[in-house]
Amino acid sequence: MRKLIIDTDAGVDDSQAILMALTHPNTIVSAITMVTGNVHVTEVTKNVPRILDLCDADVPHYVGAELPLVAPYVDAAHVHGDDGFGGADIPQSTRQPEDEHAVNALIRLINENPNEYEILALGPLTNLALAVRLDPTLPDKIKRLVIMGGTIGAHGNATALAEYNFYADPEAVQIVLDTFGKSAPYPELISWETTLAHCMSWDWYEAWCNHGTDRSEFVHKISERFVARIRERGVTKYALPDPLAMAITLEPDLIEKSDDYYTAMELGGTYARGQLMVDYRDMIDGVTRDGHFPNMTVVTQINMDGFQQLLDDAVK
Ligand code: RIB
Ligand code: CA
Repeated sequence: MRKLIIDTDAGVDDSQAILMALTHPNTIVSAITMVTGNVHVTEVTKNVPRILDLCDADVPHYVGAELPLVAPYVDAAHVHGDDGFGGADIPQSTRQPEDEHAVNALIRLINENPNEYEILALGPLTNLALAVRLDPTLPDKIKRLVIMGGTIGAHGNATALAEYNFYADPEAVQIVLDTFGKSAPYPELISWETTLAHCMSWDWYEAWCNHGTDRSEFVHKISERFVARIRERGVTKYALPDPLAMAITLEPDLIEKSDDYYTAMELGGTYARGQLMVDYRDMIDGVTRDGHFPNMTVVTQINMDGFQQLLDDAVK
């Protein structure tokens, strides 16, 4: 049985991904840590309990970083709505977060249960960066780290070159690369480009939203405004970044292609701040031409039937 900690800025696609985990037979969601990203963490703190209500799941959830480490806060409310739930009319929950800060909870839980937790980061990496700065031993005590974020071919969404989660807190990304990426198993990355290569059709989306269940109705309600807007603009397929990262977390065998590379975060630049540099050049004896070792497992191909099955199972 997998023990999973989810770090999230829920968020529409985060919420879809969390449903996948809460309905997966071989996974226990041990904790959910929340971070400012798509919307401020005070909104995320209203959204996570509502997902737990929907699944009647008692998962301890912790409020984390309110702002990025250095970068000015840039939200994604234009995608997720000011409330992070697409403005959907979803009843508030009476569930309350734990008193402990998310960063302290990450440190405590991982030290109490070394080598038991897999971590999935679905938002900016602020909480993870703060946690590893407070306790540098954390990378040696987790089973796995999967990250949704970054660009691996300079095709951005937040900017021309940068993906939102990495652009929102690039300094946090570099801290995570320098620590969790120091030795194998490296963090596993689902980038924006890999997301775009694994989209669903609108026919599938409409069936997904019409299973006649509470969860199907939920995913429809929180996504319908954004979907209507992008379909009007002529977008032909539905990108699901956080669910794709969740899919390889829940079922690693869905990964059909991945490679280890040395990566680094561009922190300067007029156009490039937040872009992930991936060194694709041939390595000699596992070392790059600049003398670096790999620090990230970049996932580029996932089994689509398996991905779709997990999404369908989440709403049935
Ligand atoms: O770029 C996509 C990522 O940014 C997803 O995690 C989405 O929820 C937003 O946080
Ligand atoms: Ca997210």
